[in-house]
Amino acid sequence: EEAGAARPFRQRLLVVANRLPVSAVRRGEGSWSLDISAGGLVSALLGVKEFEARWIGWAGVNVPDEIGQKALTKALAEKRCIPVFLDEEIVHQYYNGYCNNILWPLFHYLGLPQEDRLATTRSFQSQFAAYKKANQMFADVVNAHYEEGDVVWCHDYHLMYLPECLKKYNTKMKVGWFLHTPFPSSEIHRTLPSRYELLRSVLAADLVGFHTYDYARHFVSACTRILGLEGTPEGVEDQGKLTRVAAFPIGIDSDRFIRALELPQVQEHIKELKERFSGRKVMLGVDRLDMIKGIPQKLLAFEKFLEENPYWRDKVVLLQIAVPTRTDVPECTFLSFSYQKLTSQVHEIVGRINGRFGTLTAVPIHHLDCSLDFHALCALYAVTDVALVTSLRDGMNLVSYEFVACQEAKKGALILSEFAGAAQSLGAGAILVNPWNITEVAASIGQALNMPAEEREKRHCHNFHHVTEHTAQEWAETFVSELNDTVVEAQLRTSK
Ligand code: G6P
Repeated sequence: EEAGAARPFRQRLLVVANRLPVSAVRRGEGSWSLDISAGGLVSALLGVKEFEARWIGWAGVNVPDEIGQKALTKALAEKRCIPVFLDEEIVHQYYNGYCNNILWPLFHYLGLPQEDRLATTRSFQSQFAAYKKANQMFADVVNAHYEEGDVVWCHDYHLMYLPECLKKYNTKMKVGWFLHTPFPSSEIHRTLPSRYELLRSVLAADLVGFHTYDYARHFVSACTRILGLEGTPEGVEDQGKLTRVAAFPIGIDSDRFIRALELPQVQEHIKELKERFSGRKVMLGVDRLDMIKGIPQKLLAFEKFLEENPYWRDKVVLLQIAVPTRTDVPECTFLSFSYQKLTSQVHEIVGRINGRFGTLTAVPIHHLDCSLDFHALCALYAVTDVALVTSLRDGMNLVSYEFVACQEAKKGALILSEFAGAAQSLGAGAILVNPWNITEVAASIGQALNMPAEEREKRHCHNFHHVTEHTAQEWAETFVSELNDTVVEAQLRTSK
């Protein structure tokens, strides 16, 4: 920027999410090192030049001492991040408990865990109280940093109680809330003991956004059926106050992936992988090790495919990257899913399949319990022939988008769960499957591996066009500009 040049005015955007886009590691009493994590939301907002974004969230670490808190706050300020400090007990009850043991499974249609009256950690009431308390702590930090004219954008199921807390501080604050998971059918939502309070609080926002039209519709019907309010084409109306509800499908920063493929180190990596797997078709799965991702079901479908297709046994390899996640979330006895059981369940299936179909020189599945760095991931996407995204439910699933962005050379096939939000946008180019139907997924693997080049190309082009046209940046800009508009509309309505 030229010295003395007038800087154009940029509206301040306060992005509030449970997790900050950096992870902090303590180096000493008063010193921290920070790692930027370039998740979907971060890259979406990095590309948005119209706003000056600041982040408010939890740094993912317990910092009980004041010296540590001060030092971390200072280090984070350089990255435009503002921390919310949550103590261990709150994290346990709010994050492990209410967020990830109750809301997460429920919103993905896995149901509620059984309430355990003997253990307070399992009580809905005490977990909900901690959830509200944590949301209030986020609200206090937002309020302390808020300046007139700022837009506040709250993210995800962790912060459903936040819009109400914020509006209690200041009715004029522009507040948007966006859900990154599915919003389930109202019949599912109504089983939640705190169903009224959460809906009421979300409705305090000016704009409420979801990835798909279906999720938005489910939310509106939850408000009409559970709260008895009126649903309109614009959203939900309560005594003359309208909360706008709409779909804003997120995208990725596709250029970042496309550019990465040209880097010499990525090219080198691609070459190595091609040599390593030469003579075999590469199938790829990249998921957090979460029950919603349907990893065991995917492995069983692959096993069935190998069982029924001896020809392919030494000609295909499945690379499954399973990133460990939320390992402290307690196991629920009632649901048949748990983060803790999942790892051993997956390892057992992988072991069995490799034992059955492996040879002295090759195994059909390479399973990794870790995350890959960005460049290694791009290289892997680029050499893949068939990507397998078989989530049982998924808000959007950006792995499918990232794969498509890296496939201009190969034009590989994408097998995609019809229960991922991405099925609505990439459905025409992907092979859509019901992930619960192992026979169907096994057949789709055969279809993908045998697909004529012309058909693959046509399907890929369709999806590539979508992924490069509907970017994360466009998503963020659309949401924030609609949020600004809702406030103007509300002012017009009240001045009438
Ligand atoms: C999902 C959620 C995000 C969350 C991410 C990782 O994508 O929608 O809000 O940050 O999972 O989970 P974690 O619990 O590690 O933040």
